[in-house]
Amino acid sequence: KQTAFSGAMIGKGEYRHFMQKEIFEQPAVIGDSLHSFLDPLSGTVQLPDLGIDFSAISRITISACGTAYFAGLIAKYWFEQIARQPVEVDIASEFRYREAPMPESGLGLFVSQSGETIDTLEALRYAKRCGQTILSLVNVPESAIARESDAVLQTLAGPEIGVASTKAFTTQLTVLACLALATARARGSIDAAREAALSQALLEVPARVAEVLNHDTTIRMIAADMMEARDVLYLGRGSLYPIALEGALKLKEISYIHAEGYAAGEMKHGPIALIDEDVPIVVCAPAGPLFEKTAANVQEVIARGGKVILISDAEGIARAGDEAAHVIELPPVDPFVAPLLYTLPMQLLAYHTAVLKGTDVDQPRNLAKAVTVE
Ligand code: AGP
Repeated sequence: KQTAFSGAMIGKGEYRHFMQKEIFEQPAVIGDSLHSFLDPLSGTVQLPDLGIDFSAISRITISACGTAYFAGLIAKYWFEQIARQPVEVDIASEFRYREAPMPESGLGLFVSQSGETIDTLEALRYAKRCGQTILSLVNVPESAIARESDAVLQTLAGPEIGVASTKAFTTQLTVLACLALATARARGSIDAAREAALSQALLEVPARVAEVLNHDTTIRMIAADMMEARDVLYLGRGSLYPIALEGALKLKEISYIHAEGYAAGEMKHGPIALIDEDVPIVVCAPAGPLFEKTAANVQEVIARGGKVILISDAEGIARAGDEAAHVIELPPVDPFVAPLLYTLPMQLLAYHTAVLKGTDVDQPRNLAKAVTVE
């Protein structure tokens, strides 16, 4: 049985906005969500009995909306890379209408903070009609989506008041990472040493996230340089590509500045035509196997007068940071957990830009916390 979240205080406390409070609650609530699945003593994931045989799933179909959809995109990289598990991810409002053929012994996985998003609920119902086993990941266990699922996993983020999803997203990633590890073990696609290394990397995430939050002042200064922009581009590769999408969504929804997340490798297929000195480009690129390619993208952008904000670790900044307009240095981490860490600068950049623009950070115009009607 998952225990309750760490009892984070109700109300804003000393914070200006609920969103700010919820950003800073992440070390605690990521830890709560992690420890309900990952036994720190054995260093292995112990899922509750969900009645699902993870060794016998032909394909996982993930469907969600907005930020929860981006969590699903990241989970796809994890399931495929470490569990060798075929995964399909789709936006719920598309999936519910496209009459996708569903495989025998398939699992439908639905991610939703509120558990009430109508598109995600209808996508769940479609998958159920097609004979899929239904597993949902929610922050509200007594929600409609949870009630209609065969099994439920819970994020222990506690109530999220800000309309923009922050701690809900990183706790979704936390639980999805544990699920990917459990699936890898069930499918025999990971050895004990690798499982221990990835579990250890996860166990260190709350401390690494707390370190990143120490950059809050630096990020507020960078936000001042972004607030006049009309358009902002976010780039990432691999499991950081959905982080680029999330960074763009955060900026759009609370500061009302147009932003777009793109796979870094796609720049030359069109978006590089957008680049001039008025378009900040936020690049998420830890040192690692994909770094050289992303560094080449950064050079292309700078050559065209683009203002690059490079988010990387010490090694990446040493190799490609000297021409960037700004750098945000994050601690080096195993690539497996990089999406959890690189989310934080995305959240803080959007938050500070919105505060500088004077928008209603917790209740942005035209938005609701849960989209429960068509
Ligand atoms: C994200 O910041 C937005 N608040 C929105 O995209 C949200 O993630 C989406 O509406 C899904 O909500 P849910 O997780 O409650 O289903």
